[in-house]
Amino acid sequence: MKKICVVGAGTMGNGIAHVFAQQGFQVSLVDVSQTQLDKAIATIGKNLDRQIAKGSLPPEAKDSTVSNISLRTSLAEGAADADLVVEAATENMDLKLRIFKQIDEAAPAGCILATNTSSISITRIAAATGRPQQVIGMHFMNPVPVMKLVEIINGYATDSSVTEKIVELSRTLGKIPCVVNDYPGFIANRILMPMINEAIYSLYEGVAGVEEIDTVMKLGMAHPMGPLQLADFIGLDVCLSILQVLQQGFGQPKYAPCPLLVNMVMANKLGIKTGEGFYTYTPGSKDLVVSNGFKS
Ligand SMILES: NC(=O)c1ccc[n+]([C@@H]2O[C@H](COP(=O)([O-])OP(=O)(O)OC[C@H]3O[C@@H](n4cnc5c(N)ncnc54)[C@H](O)[C@@H]3O)[C@@H](O)[C@H]2O)c1
Repeated sequence: MKKICVVGAGTMGNGIAHVFAQQGFQVSLVDVSQTQLDKAIATIGKNLDRQIAKGSLPPEAKDSTVSNISLRTSLAEGAADADLVVEAATENMDLKLRIFKQIDEAAPAGCILATNTSSISITRIAAATGRPQQVIGMHFMNPVPVMKLVEIINGYATDSSVTEKIVELSRTLGKIPCVVNDYPGFIANRILMPMINEAIYSLYEGVAGVEEIDTVMKLGMAHPMGPLQLADFIGLDVCLSILQVLQQGFGQPKYAPCPLLVNMVMANKLGIKTGEGFYTYTPGSKDLVVSNGFKS
């Protein structure tokens, strides 16, 4: 595999493009928004600078990585000669079904179609294409250049040769692949999201404040980040979508999203990406400041 098309240039798409380009793959990064594409390439540049400053990357790697990425607003052009498409667009079932239909029409016959979805059924996405045996979940973790795991999800029809190729490719990227089956939330989010939801319920019910909840989980459970900070990091809209998929997929009320989470998403308080969630974020500052609405 040489040519990779990454669809969606948000939080995850820029990270996925970054790690492929850094390993010498030719990457077409596609988004409907030119602003997002410009933001993505700026973020990739900043993240490469950070890796260079830490000594984990030689300085000349910045130019070669950036030059391996081309930005496009046309999915048909981006996917036309791809060996692999990795979709990382907004977590919305109808949108992903539409995108996969378009990718299937545009990509060459042998191209593998992967999705970075956090929770949506791979089998359902695969059914929107004429090549379900070549569709697979390739679930990178945030931030992609840093996190080692790739959760690889086999859809109902995924061919074992496709799984083997994606396992091998993940290793080429310096990642550690872990293969799981296709049920709502797979493994990562089936376990993580109920914990985040419970943390939000604890705040909503007044059991404790934002800092107390995160401190208990950081110091008591050795989590590197508290669940509310992690929710801000992931994006509250993404958390809400995943909980809705779990609730619908298993038909169990235990996955119902906390009303506070629903309200915050409606108010566009989505965490880091909008500058405010449970904490407020000032560009350039690493201080963790609890949002005004949650200060005691
Ligand atoms: N945020 C996380 O921590 C995280 C972790 C793992 C997986 N994921 C998954 O990765 C995917 C992307 O999440 P994100 O957090 O990067 O979202 P995001 O909101 O940061 O970015 C989504 C991007 O998709 C673009 N987009 C929307 N419609 C499009 C289309 N038709 N064609 C091309 N681009 C389109 C948007 O313009 C936006 O730039 C989701 O499926 C999410 O569940 C997210």
